Amino acid sequence: MKKKIIIAIDGYSSCGKSTMAKDLAREIGYIYVDTGAMYRSVTLYALQHDLFRPDGTIREDELKAQMPQIHISFKLNSETGRPDTYLNDKNVEKDIRTMEVSSHVSPIAALPFVRQALVAQQQAMGQEKGIVMDGRDIGTAVFPHAELKIFVTADPQIRAQRRYDELKAKGMEADFDAILKNVQERDYIDTHRETAPLRQADDAIVLDNSHMTIPEQKAWLLQQYEAKV
Ligand code: DC
Repeated sequence: MKKKIIIAIDGYSSCGKSTMAKDLAREIGYIYVDTGAMYRSVTLYALQHDLFRPDGTIREDELKAQMPQIHISFKLNSETGRPDTYLNDKNVEKDIRTMEVSSHVSPIAALPFVRQALVAQQQAMGQEKGIVMDGRDIGTAVFPHAELKIFVTADPQIRAQRRYDELKAKGMEADFDAILKNVQERDYIDTHRETAPLRQADDAIVLDNSHMTIPEQKAWLLQQYEAKV
């Protein structure tokens, strides 16, 4: 039997991390955890509970006090074969992907008390191994000892185009320039924040998928996994 490992997939926003991570998990029978969905869920909660001031700053003390009431979980959607995100038992898979959430998530993800709470949950999810987790700090902070670490990157224009196509395909509103701006802003905040900034772990394998198709990425990732186990 193959040994079970932890696979950490980090990288910039909208570079297809979750697509490749989900496909790999399904193929090898691992649990998949989208940690971006967890930061997005906290953001949705904050928007719904009026925890952003009109100037965009966060009512931190109130959010901190309410953290124990924010329960995030994942349940397999039998139609898509992929896990959906639940916030306090409500399916929020679609609600957390809106531009409104995308444009509020970075400052939420920069709050140390939010990261602390979510990282603890993520580490608990990986205790049994057999997990593929994607995010920004998985190989550096959540699982520094993960057996396989991948760092994904792609050209910002290409990433914006992919996100645009994805929203359109779901029948959602999309404005390319606004998306590109959002991608660039998030890159900046994600790499410059004080707590657990996005950076490549020393032992991560880099994948620039700007000019790769999804099947090519999938095959590449499977190869990396096979090489480890
Ligand atoms: O992967 P995503 O675009 O859904 O992530 C949403 C935001 O959450 C992103 O701007 C950065 C943040 N994030 C993070 O700080 N740490 C993670 N492990 C995952 C996401």
